Amino acid sequence: MTTRPHHPSSAPMSPTLHAYSNHALLGHKLALLRDRRTQPARFGQLLKEISLMLLSYATADLPVREVPVITPVGPTTQRVLAKRVGFAPILRAGAGMIPAAHELVPGAPIWYLGLYRDEETLRPVRYYDKLQGYPPVDIALILDPMLATGGSAVMAASRLKEKGVETVTFVGLIAAPEGVALLAREHPDVDVYVAAVDERLNERGYIVPGLGDAGDRQNATGADDPTDEPFVPEMA
Ligand code: PRP
Ligand code: URA
Repeated sequence: MTTRPHHPSSAPMSPTLHAYSNHALLGHKLALLRDRRTQPARFGQLLKEISLMLLSYATADLPVREVPVITPVGPTTQRVLAKRVGFAPILRAGAGMIPAAHELVPGAPIWYLGLYRDEETLRPVRYYDKLQGYPPVDIALILDPMLATGGSAVMAASRLKEKGVETVTFVGLIAAPEGVALLAREHPDVDVYVAAVDERLNERGYIVPGLGDAGDRQNATGADDPTDEPFVPEMA
């Protein structure tokens, strides 16, 4: 049987999981992203490119309605989005997915959520949340490259539902089986779109093989940033 690369692999671990592990181009970009020698500027570009592809899959089945359109050749009807869509990037790493969201749905509200993981407990800590008074949306897509223990995604989904969002979707790059399972247990209605599901978490809660710390790799703040390659600034 041939696999259709634009279709997610069947994933017995959760009916809400859409993992595009067999997609050739996504795989190639993910290889570059995982490579420890990839420098922050290139990492950011790749994150945007992969996010564009995944967001296009995650928005394929959004509710639509028909509107009349007159083309230069004549009248027709066309389906357009029927619901208000917004994005909820989880800081810091999710910020790198915002350019893709802006490009795909220009003008959509962006609800920043500041969460970091306590290094000891691995539990998420909320440090920035300005959802109060934001324009309501019907559908929110959480943006975060990494679904590790799943704690951050669960907290983000709960917060968005508290604000009255009807449909919450998670879009990330790499998930651990543990995170997929926790999110499915706590929020069985949240669909998850990722480029890959990796093997496991290590003792520090990092995804193996993963790509390291997604926030540090974008922002050049990691203690173990690659030093065995000369750092060539991309721009003077
Ligand atoms: C990372 C990542 C997620 C979280 C995932 O953020 O961007 O938000 O970890 O882990 P979880 O599934 O176990 O909750 P981190 O805490 O490193 O913060 P940062 O992006 O600010 O570095
Ligand atoms: N956060 C990251 O940035 N990377 C991981 O592997 C796990 C959590």
